[in-house]
Amino acid sequence: MYTTSMTLREAIADAEAKKVAIGHFNISNIEMLWATFHAAKRLGVPAIIGVSEGERDFIGVKQIVAIIKSIREEYNYPLYLNADHTYSFEKVKEAIDAGFDSAIYDGAKLSFEENVKVAKQCVEYARGKVSSSGAPILIESELGYIGQSSKVLDGIPEGVDLKEGLTKPEQALQFVKESGIDLFAPAVGNIHGMMRVGNDPDLDIPRIKEIRKEAGVPLVLHGGSGTTDSDFVKAIEAGISIVHISTELRVAYVNGIKKSLQENPEEVAPYKYMKLPVQEVEKVVEGRLKLFNKM
Ligand code: G3H
Ligand code: ZN
Repeated sequence: MYTTSMTLREAIADAEAKKVAIGHFNISNIEMLWATFHAAKRLGVPAIIGVSEGERDFIGVKQIVAIIKSIREEYNYPLYLNADHTYSFEKVKEAIDAGFDSAIYDGAKLSFEENVKVAKQCVEYARGKVSSSGAPILIESELGYIGQSSKVLDGIPEGVDLKEGLTKPEQALQFVKESGIDLFAPAVGNIHGMMRVGNDPDLDIPRIKEIRKEAGVPLVLHGGSGTTDSDFVKAIEAGISIVHISTELRVAYVNGIKKSLQENPEEVAPYKYMKLPVQEVEKVVEGRLKLFNKM
């Protein structure tokens, strides 16, 4: 039985021991948050709510912390809040000060040295500070460029190299050692966004295994949307402990809104016409959580 007293670090260790992964879902508003929480609660598994810089500016940095805290306390539930893709030390600091459980410093587009330098600065700032639930704050970093937007794609994102651009295990080791980060996000064939037609590229499963061994810290798979079920299962088996999903939720949400308004063109009450999009997001989250948690 999971409770709110379980810290994010403990939840990740638990997932690693069980060879399952925690689902991380990006939200833009409270509708998507409820959809995610209800799906997780129904299944009884922990979940991470992710808000990128744009998403948290839209919702409100302090406000999202307060909402997650109130859900966590009311339901005694292990729901965590991550400051996703954060491009500067200042913005990581803002999230830490606001009480997030974790933050990702994303320097994937920078040189190795510059990336490591700022990641280390974020780690040093986070140490000794606690989240709104009183837990230590975890810092994640990315090494290897996998694109930047959660959208429907007509091709591989510009700048992504699915061969030479993959993270090398020895670089992972050096990065973790020098920066001191808690979680590591590699490029292993994953891309942000999801192909309009067909599935996303295959993941390099042996590479995930090697990186996990070298890095020595839990691994996070970004760009989950569009990945095949069998690749997810193999990637989790190989050492992925957290999986990020965003585009699939965005697509379910917007299609749900379109359908709802088409079916009820005269409806003006948001809490009525927004029911369908919320259900659609909930279905996606539930399906992904079942897969990630071997249910
Ligand atoms: O941090 C967000 C994710 O990595 C989501 O990627 O839109 O491909 O699911 P996705
Ligand atoms: Zn991501």
